[in-house]
Amino acid sequence: MRVLVTGAAGFLGSHICDYLAGKGHEVVGMDNFITGSTDNIQHLFGNKKFQFVEYNVTNFIHVPGKLDAVMHFASPASPVDYLNYPIPTLKVGALGTHKVLGLAKAKGAVFMLASTSEVYGDPEVNPQPETYWGNVNPVGPRGVYDEAKRFAEAMAMAYHSFHGVQVRIARIFNTYGPRMRAGDGRVVPNFITQALRGRPLTVYGDGRQTRSLCYVSDLVEGLYRLLRSNINAPVNIGNPQEITMLELASTIGKLTGRKSKLVFKPLPQDDPRVRRPDISLAKAKLKWRPKVSLNDGLGRTIGYFKGKI
Ligand SMILES: NC(=O)c1ccc[n+]([C@@H]2O[C@H](COP(=O)([O-])OP(=O)(O)OC[C@H]3O[C@@H](n4cnc5c(N)ncnc54)[C@H](O)[C@@H]3O)[C@@H](O)[C@H]2O)c1
Repeated sequence: MRVLVTGAAGFLGSHICDYLAGKGHEVVGMDNFITGSTDNIQHLFGNKKFQFVEYNVTNFIHVPGKLDAVMHFASPASPVDYLNYPIPTLKVGALGTHKVLGLAKAKGAVFMLASTSEVYGDPEVNPQPETYWGNVNPVGPRGVYDEAKRFAEAMAMAYHSFHGVQVRIARIFNTYGPRMRAGDGRVVPNFITQALRGRPLTVYGDGRQTRSLCYVSDLVEGLYRLLRSNINAPVNIGNPQEITMLELASTIGKLTGRKSKLVFKPLPQDDPRVRRPDISLAKAKLKWRPKVSLNDGLGRTIGYFKGKI
């Protein structure tokens, strides 16, 4: 295949580029570096299978030659990033998705959207199946991200039903691993870098809110299986092992060997209290389930951050 990956210089996009190139596919990476970095892809620059274009995908996109698939991963993704860039986040989710879908239609390519568990908002059901419509505050601070992704899903489905474009909608739950940014504000890099620097770990609220953390290699395998499937509907991809933030802080404390104190700060507005994917659909249709244990994945991620700070 020849695949366009938008957001290629980001955390997930760069791992997807590695995976695709490793399977012998040709990859065109595209990114405007708003939250990404050349550090994540520079190892690919000598690879004949990899080509990179610096570009803002909210503008009209032209890519010469055939494309078999387009994977739309461009978007600020951490709360710190999308609160810093609220309008670019709305634009890349709305205008960017429209431009990438137009490209997929013109090339006869399969379109994949990096959607998110945030479409479920602060969920009233746990775990969340794909059939749950969500509980999102459209005008709260997180609305810029959540509603952009909900719009993107609606746009993808319209391109499927009206234009016949093959669309894959991955509802990605919290994913972690090497190449996350130390300062991106997500809980795993926050706790790990604070622990490694001997600082207290910042816990928001009472720390009893839950997340379900998927290691990046598991996620990328699930995405690839979804891309190669024929499912034109949302599919949850994530790890259903649910833990509280207090448990995560304690696990990271043990794995780093640091006895960090906890400092408690107020819970941000509309922060989801629980988060756990129902992955029955992915198990049944993609024959996929995550394999990397939390301890193993965190160990690899700690190793990465040790080399960075
Ligand atoms: N990491 C997760 O846990 C997670 C969970 C759910 C969904 N997602 C989705 O996966 C995608 C990637 O997330 P990530 O964690 O790798 O974030 P990231 O910030 O590391 O990567 C996003 C990349 O998109 C690029 N980008 C943003 N706007 C762009 C634009 N207009 N034009 C070109 N490039 C642009 C950024 O520069 C960056 O390199 C996002 O769409 C995100 O919403 C991620």
